[in-house]
Amino acid sequence: MELLKKIHAKIQQNGFITFDEYMDMSLYFPKYGYYNSERTDFHPKNSDFITAPELSAIYTNSIVKFYTDSKKYKNIENVLEFGAGSGEMAYNFLKKCNSKDLPTNYFIIEKNANLIKKQKNKLQKLPKNLFEKINWVDNSYVPENVFIIANEILDAIPSKIFHKEDNKFYEKCIIEEKGNLVFSLNDCNSDNLKEIHSIEDRLNRKLPNSYTFEINMRIESFLLNIFKNSKNFLLMIIDYGYHEDEFFHPQRKNGTVQFYKNHKKINDIFSFQQGSFDISISVNFSNIYRIAKRNSIELYSFTTQSEFLLNMNILELAKEIEGNSERNNILKTLLFPTDMGENFKFMFLSDFIIKDFKSSFKDYRHKL
Ligand SMILES: C[S@@+](CC[C@H](N)C(=O)[O-])C[C@H]1O[C@@H](n2cnc3c(N)ncnc32)[C@H](O)[C@@H]1O
Repeated sequence: MELLKKIHAKIQQNGFITFDEYMDMSLYFPKYGYYNSERTDFHPKNSDFITAPELSAIYTNSIVKFYTDSKKYKNIENVLEFGAGSGEMAYNFLKKCNSKDLPTNYFIIEKNANLIKKQKNKLQKLPKNLFEKINWVDNSYVPENVFIIANEILDAIPSKIFHKEDNKFYEKCIIEEKGNLVFSLNDCNSDNLKEIHSIEDRLNRKLPNSYTFEINMRIESFLLNIFKNSKNFLLMIIDYGYHEDEFFHPQRKNGTVQFYKNHKKINDIFSFQQGSFDISISVNFSNIYRIAKRNSIELYSFTTQSEFLLNMNILELAKEIEGNSERNNILKTLLFPTDMGENFKFMFLSDFIIKDFKSSFKDYRHKL
């Protein structure tokens, strides 16, 4: 109820709030936002959705393999994980690393105080020498010589939503009607229209009518914080998403926003308690690439989750899972194209040219 009151109060200031403002409040409002709430749990049994690090340690183990391989080409001393969720990835990462490959520091940048508490509880169970490597820092501190992991972070960065009807573009906003929250279509401002037209120019086609789509204007500042403040980094972005042509596919008429509660998609979000469900939006990877290029950041590879994991020898790593059916179910979820295998993409960016860096996985950079 508290969050609902805050949303109403914010709407009263201007008569409406934009979707990115709503998403920001729903997920991150201190104390009441979804990720800040005491109830939010990442354990598959109690969660609203499953992320790959929570599904099985073999996922993190394959990232450790990539990290270890990368150390041959780059001077990597530290690891930085954005948004560490329950702390599961940090836990498995440090446990799996050979002592010679252990990072000097394992930094975590987590914007939610409640999650930091949960992560500390979990990570304290690591042996003391490993726990001592972990430092929670705020996002004004981005370390150098660092392997950076952003697993399902960009999809949780608040995004704007637009709609085209009768050849006119609108921004999807939230207003109050008879005391209830409802969606409204507001006229697009000129900055947003400019952005939409530049997308149409790049696509070389007009977006169709009766079409809803997202543009994330906040991802750039998240990336610039890394690009401008870190030196010698290898950034690994993992998320579901598409290259631009597919992101704005004419048949995806309702955009990519998803609301999840108890492992089910929900639609009528205003009939649920505000702050009690997850909100996520797929990533437009071409946009990430453009931002990187503008800042002279090199793109090393863009591939699918299944390509990455198979090349890190996940089938071998999976042998540690007891029980054939358990093992098969985990592998299916991670690798099948209709599950995470192709919906999730892996993107590798760096500020340094890594001369001998060879990726063995199939590369889709040309699609960006
Ligand atoms: C979908 S969860 C993913 C959690 C975890 N990485 C995993 O894969 O299980 C999104 C996480 O991103 C965090 N987050 C969102 N924006 C962030 C930012 N700008 N900096 C750091 N963490 C952020 C949230 O607090 C939350 O922990």
